Amino acid sequence: MQISLVGLNHRSAPVTVREMAAIRTQKLRDSLESLRSYVSYGVILSTCNRTEVYTTSADSQGTTVGINFLQKYLDIPHHTLHLYTYMLEGKAAVEHLFRVTCGLDSMIIGEYEVLGQVRQTLEVAEEAEMVSLPLRHLFQSAIRAGRKVREETEISKNALSVSSVAIELAAGDIGDLANCQMLVIGAGEAGRLAARAAKERGMSRIGVVSRTLERAAGLATELGGLPISMSNLAEELTTCDLVVACADAPHHLLDVSTLKTAMRHRPQVPLVIIDIAVPRNVTPAVAQINNVFLYNIDDLTSISEQNRKQREGEIEKAGEIIAFEVKEFFAWWQDLEVRPVVAALMKKAEEIRRSHLNRTLKKLPPLSEDEQYNLEMMTRAIIAKILKEPLHSLKANGRHNLGYAEMVRELFQLDVEKRK
Ligand SMILES: NC(=O)c1ccc[n+]([C@@H]2O[C@H](COP(=O)([O-])OP(=O)(O)OC[C@H]3O[C@@H](n4cnc5c(N)ncnc54)[C@H](OP(=O)(O)O)[C@@H]3O)[C@@H](O)[C@H]2O)c1
Repeated sequence: MQISLVGLNHRSAPVTVREMAAIRTQKLRDSLESLRSYVSYGVILSTCNRTEVYTTSADSQGTTVGINFLQKYLDIPHHTLHLYTYMLEGKAAVEHLFRVTCGLDSMIIGEYEVLGQVRQTLEVAEEAEMVSLPLRHLFQSAIRAGRKVREETEISKNALSVSSVAIELAAGDIGDLANCQMLVIGAGEAGRLAARAAKERGMSRIGVVSRTLERAAGLATELGGLPISMSNLAEELTTCDLVVACADAPHHLLDVSTLKTAMRHRPQVPLVIIDIAVPRNVTPAVAQINNVFLYNIDDLTSISEQNRKQREGEIEKAGEIIAFEVKEFFAWWQDLEVRPVVAALMKKAEEIRRSHLNRTLKKLPPLSEDEQYNLEMMTRAIIAKILKEPLHSLKANGRHNLGYAEMVRELFQLDVEKRK
């Protein structure tokens, strides 16, 4: 059995491509149903930084299956997908997921949010019954390693998030945020983190906009902000200084016409918009409007690069923990793959020995108990001697080469119960 990964992330693809590949939370279950028609077991991880498909299959077709699924499901042209995706198998795929959960593959190194996103991803795949035993163990081990890295290193000390970096970018642009008015569009995790970071910087007024007013009210109450209904958004734009857009919407929530109308009321007053949603919430052409300063998630790179440099020493320590945990994972998997083959090989040898011994005993004149015992011991010793080296080799090599057990199974025509 092989683990495969096909995906694209913030390093391999710009936001313009990532937003085409983003699978929104509400669509995750539907996407897994579609993946099922390509492969029995798979997990789809889609965050603002990446869209990745992990699969397990008996053959080595996992990456082909993954890319075919993405192409069809996302309706992205073949050549575009090939240009921006990576395909990893076996150890490389496993290591990659560990790096993801440990926050080393994130735009904001050491961020915490990815751990929750991976956990949620696994839950949805479990509900869809798409998780094989190796996939489950892989994801659980990676989540555990993610926690361990954060406990044993300082990779997440004073951790930033995409949302808090957005506020940092705004502060760099606007200056003191204390006298500013801000609108957060989206009241999920990203919105909560943005509003909290803005509050910590003393933002004087935080308006929270969500599709449902109750949700906006929930977050606003939590952070001392004001809930605002979507229908009042245009009016709010005439007075605010900063918009952080982070709703999980499939379409643009702010377009050129809305912004042009708002800016007519404040032609000389700049408006900074930071759109960290993937897919983006704001029509890119809005950037052409006078005094509108639009940024997207990829514009956070310079701050995220500084953050990465500050954590370089910790990245190395995290890498050592990952190397150890990956080794543990493969030791577990080797056992899982090899143990049934070892048992089947010993069972087959024992069945042959016993049936031949019984046949021989029937042909011989009656033997004493001692003679029978000696024959029994001799045949057992022959089997043990013959199998000693193959079994040793199977146990030793299966650890490094998961195809080895399969080869032994075929060679000896063993009836091994297939695992999910
Ligand atoms: N989570 C993070 O740490 C993080 C970091 C960076 C970027 N982002 C990006 O930020 C966005 C939100 O992420 P999240 O984790 O906060 O997700 P989330 O919790 O699912 O976001 C929920 C928010 O999106 C709104 N929403 C959902 N569907 C909508 C639609 N069709 N039209 C308008 N609003 C809609 C919801 O409105 P109601 O519930 O009121 O209907 C709610 O305000 C995503 O694009 C994500 O990629 C997230």
